[in-house]
Amino acid sequence: MRRPLIAGNWKMNTTVGEAATLVKDMLSALSAVNGIDRILCPPFISLQRVSDIVKGSSVEVGAQNMYFKDKGAFTGEISPLMLKELCKYVILGHSERRQFFGETDETVNAKLKAALAAGLLPIFCIGESLEENEAGRTKDILARQVTGGLKEIAANKDLVIAYEPVWAIGTGKAATGDQAGQTIAFIRNTLASVWNNETAQSVRILYGGSVTSANIAEFISEPHIDGALVGGASLKAADFIEIVRQTAAIKQ
Ligand code: 13P
Repeated sequence: MRRPLIAGNWKMNTTVGEAATLVKDMLSALSAVNGIDRILCPPFISLQRVSDIVKGSSVEVGAQNMYFKDKGAFTGEISPLMLKELCKYVILGHSERRQFFGETDETVNAKLKAALAAGLLPIFCIGESLEENEAGRTKDILARQVTGGLKEIAANKDLVIAYEPVWAIGTGKAATGDQAGQTIAFIRNTLASVWNNETAQSVRILYGGSVTSANIAEFISEPHIDGALVGGASLKAADFIEIVRQTAAIKQ
């Protein structure tokens, strides 16, 4: 009932030329997999090129960030209206944005509101740090991030949430399927109390953090996990294709 979704977050990797090569290397194989949303999130400057290449296919495009104003004197920023012409999705609140660029639950909330108002579909990222995890604060942190991020936002089945424990990102130390499945079940319950149960059952929740073609099956086999937000492995065409194929096969 929840359509599976795999998104590739290329982060600050690929020049425009490299992005074009990467998407061309993946496109026909990705297009051939049915019953699953496949989203590529290149850097801003490659959005136009990647969108042009995937046009007419079932592969979709997302941005990695966005400012919350539609236009104005905000040197260096990119607005929801600019993205709307180029892509359908936008990743918001990624832990790297929170960690290195000062994003907070408040700014992520403003961005989520602005994205939805512009008709973009947010991939809203949450996750606890290693320190928070070891201190047994995971649930408190996630509840705070969900509640704060979604403050004054009406229930919306199209929102996508990505649970990415910070200690699992880029470290090669993925959570276990069981750990991620239980935590995502908790996130869904939190969402049911913030919004309502019907919406919470419809929202897709992804796992992210050191996902590869070797471990994707473990996550996707969990009933509450609807897909993955993939970093490093999304930069390798063969790995990303395999992650998409396995997900579609398991969730069929
Ligand atoms: P890795 O898959 O490289 O651990 O990155 C995960 C991530 O942050 C995706 O947004």
